Amino acid sequence: MAVKYAKRMDLFKKSELGEILKLIEKPDIISFAGGLPASELFPVEEMKKVAVKVLDENGEEALQYSGSQGYLPLRDHIANRMNTKSKTNVQADDILITSGSQQALDFAGNIFLDEEDIVLCESPSYLGALNAFKNYQPKVIEVPTDEEGMITEELDKILKENNRVKFIYVIPDFQNPTGITWSLERRKKFIEVINKYEIPVIEDNPYGELRYEGEFLPALKSFDTKGLVIYLGTFSKIFCPGYRLGWTCASKDILRKFITCKENSDLQTSTIGQRELSKYIDDYDLDEHVEKIKVTYKKRRDLMLNCMKEEFPEGVSFTHPKGGLFTWVKLPEKLNAQELMEKCVENNVAYVPGGFFFPSGNKENYFRLNYSSCTEEKIVEGIKRLGKVLNEAVSETAEV
Ligand SMILES: Cc1ncc(COP(=O)(O)O)c(C=O)c1O
Repeated sequence: MAVKYAKRMDLFKKSELGEILKLIEKPDIISFAGGLPASELFPVEEMKKVAVKVLDENGEEALQYSGSQGYLPLRDHIANRMNTKSKTNVQADDILITSGSQQALDFAGNIFLDEEDIVLCESPSYLGALNAFKNYQPKVIEVPTDEEGMITEELDKILKENNRVKFIYVIPDFQNPTGITWSLERRKKFIEVINKYEIPVIEDNPYGELRYEGEFLPALKSFDTKGLVIYLGTFSKIFCPGYRLGWTCASKDILRKFITCKENSDLQTSTIGQRELSKYIDDYDLDEHVEKIKVTYKKRRDLMLNCMKEEFPEGVSFTHPKGGLFTWVKLPEKLNAQELMEKCVENNVAYVPGGFFFPSGNKENYFRLNYSSCTEEKIVEGIKRLGKVLNEAVSETAEV
């Protein structure tokens, strides 16, 4: 059929990751590949009651169109939570409700990027964001990153040399994919650099509330004196992703652009979904819910890390995330995590090969593991299977 698509569709011709994820749809596979929250912890019974209440009390409004910026009581809740937890000083007016934070990533690309503009990100970075930006055809440059976050001296150098940088995309808390959290000092230095160059920053923070050890750190947004930080939040990981409720918090002029994108894209986020979540926060204790899921996730994290210590061969290292949903595994350089997937699938276990998270490619000796969505039995068995594959691969390379 001679259907003619836009040129940019060529960028999405073949998704290698999609092909890999298809392989792991086998029923017996233990998959550590997704980033799913544990569905058995969703507050199903509570949401049944909330749904009835919303329809009983405000059925007609709940089923009607509503304003593009989002339901005011929900934005109030979000501003209060941000100010308490992330030490910001924001109000409901500074917030736009989006369909998950993923939608805001697309809006960021739409608002800032012309072809060949530059986006800076951590090395590695979140694949979903990189894909959202790709649509706008920027050049993505990875800024060297260590266990304390983005290296600010390197960032400074890159900004000095490149005048087409439109924004910097970062995940300072329990990063996807590495699980790493930026230190307080690094956060402050980072803000100094962006203030010097006046470059907008997308601070993407889906995991910040899921801290299992150590002290909460203030968001970059809390140090933002020039209105440069665009904070993205979401209820996907602390509540339920099915509602598709996220938000953008930004200074007035920038938020106005995001609201325009929202109007043009889908008018508004589901009225009833926003009202249900807001009612849940009124009637129940969201913090208590978050504490409850943290107990399970911490247990699963500890178990996975302990099993990895036991089962993985020498030469394989991994991060010890203080929160969030992922650990990041480094293999000896000779091994290629994407090639090893075939062996993993034969052994009924799966991860996401790390190469996809590096926009400039060429780093294939990493993979990402998720520990939130598998039961303890599956974690033990899955890591055993993975250990077997890795032990064989390491001894094969030793023989060569
Ligand atoms: C870093 C990061 N940003 C954004 C998202 C998108 O989340 P959602 O659209 O469900 O809010 C995810 C999901 O995994 C993520 O890991």
